[in-house]
Amino acid sequence: MLKIALLILLIVCASSLAQSTYPPKGTTTTTTPGAPVTTGGPTNPLSNSDGTPCNCNTATMWLDLILIADRSKSIGVGGLGSIGTQLATNLYGINIAQSGSNYYTRVGLIVFSSDVQVIGNLNKYNSYNDLTNDLLNLESYHKADDNVVDIYAALKSAQDMFQTQAANNANRNARQVVLLFASSYNQIGGNNPVVIANQMNNSNIFIITVDYNDAQGAATQLLSQISTPFMNFSSSDSNGLTNTFTEINSALCYSNCVCPASMTQLITYNSNTGRQTYFADCYIAYLSGSFATFAERACEEIHGTLIALQTGSKTNFVINSVANKNNTKLTRFHTGLHRDVSKNWVWYGYQNTNFPLGAFANWAPGFSSSSAGDCAYIEKLSSTTWGWATENCIGQNPYQYVCQVRACDSTYGTCDCNTWKNDPSCS
Ligand SMILES: *[C@@H]1O[C@H](CO)[C@@H](O)[C@H](O)[C@H]1NC(C)=O
Ligand SMILES: *[C@@H]1O[C@H](CO)[C@@H](O)[C@H](O)[C@H]1NC(C)=O
Ligand SMILES: *[C@@H]1O[C@H](CO)[C@@H](O)[C@H](O)[C@H]1NC(C)=O
Repeated sequence: MLKIALLILLIVCASSLAQSTYPPKGTTTTTTPGAPVTTGGPTNPLSNSDGTPCNCNTATMWLDLILIADRSKSIGVGGLGSIGTQLATNLYGINIAQSGSNYYTRVGLIVFSSDVQVIGNLNKYNSYNDLTNDLLNLESYHKADDNVVDIYAALKSAQDMFQTQAANNANRNARQVVLLFASSYNQIGGNNPVVIANQMNNSNIFIITVDYNDAQGAATQLLSQISTPFMNFSSSDSNGLTNTFTEINSALCYSNCVCPASMTQLITYNSNTGRQTYFADCYIAYLSGSFATFAERACEEIHGTLIALQTGSKTNFVINSVANKNNTKLTRFHTGLHRDVSKNWVWYGYQNTNFPLGAFANWAPGFSSSSAGDCAYIEKLSSTTWGWATENCIGQNPYQYVCQVRACDSTYGTCDCNTWKNDPSCS
């Protein structure tokens, strides 16, 4: 009894410590995530967070990135120049190159109004300085007499560039990203920008928009329809350009944090900021019935683990977006919760690690952390509630299961080599 009380005390202390030392959700980090400790030490930040943060190592971002800037009258005097400096500032530190054994980013640069001018295609820039020479000369492309803002034509030009300028390295499979600044909007004939944005979206192209100096708000609504969800920003946010800098950096980071196409990425919504947080966790459900230990082995075969459900909001996400996805209507599945060699409840982490059960517990009626069985599954209890139940790891419960696999981001050595062929760690 005393032992249990001490244990509870320890867990409570540990979880409050973990919460106070962990960076707030939504911040991007420049370091590798806290590597889960092997034996499930008491202070792992993963225990009480929704998931694994997407890393944002600027120097190792690897994208095919096309920058598009409105040069029409509506952008105003000096406006195009200020977009150039914003971009030069945001891209500082990224390894811009055409080849190399490390991660690198290729950049294209387009300006547009009634027409489209390609300043640099994806094969042009060999370094950050190369690109900056053009970015810090952007004002010279301003067309002060041109009222037309043909976003359709600009996006079409970017789409063509992606299609015709695939990297010289056939194994390079970098995320394709568009970063578009516009101050106004005209639809020319039947050429609807939303249609081409949808095509690009279907090709997994990530679209970030910045509504620039848009006094009439003409572009605001359109840009929110063509951006990747919640990747529509505005330079006139209350906090001004500093905020735009942070927003663009975070969006570029997220664009570089990707799951294999067959999997669902953990993305949460923060109602305070009105923005999403992307995590480096990818989920996939398997309908075959197997014992918990065998299911874990199967997840490890794809370099993942059984899923950790360490918060309520993450549990809701997984139930709605993975367990109830289309015809995959799971009513129970094995989770990564299990007792370690010291008989403490821990979750599986990546790369043969464990991290301890945190503050959140979701035991179904009749079950608790002292119930028999060293593994745990989650079961649908009513139309809206799910709860954990203990089970034997082998010989009981041939249930379905959900694996989690780490997303590919700008961290070396974490990409799934079947999907992200040019990760240098895959050779
Ligand atoms: C892009 O596709 C995703 C998933 O298919 C969808 O949720 C999203 O709304 C699409 N975005 C746009 C701008 O069409
Ligand atoms: C982004 O789009 C959403 C709707 O999708 C809208 O509510 C929001 O105001 C837009 N934000 C900006 C900065 O345009
Ligand atoms: C869900 O079902 C629809 C219609 O059957 C299909 O088009 C879509 O690809 C399915 N999505 C997933 C993720 O299985």
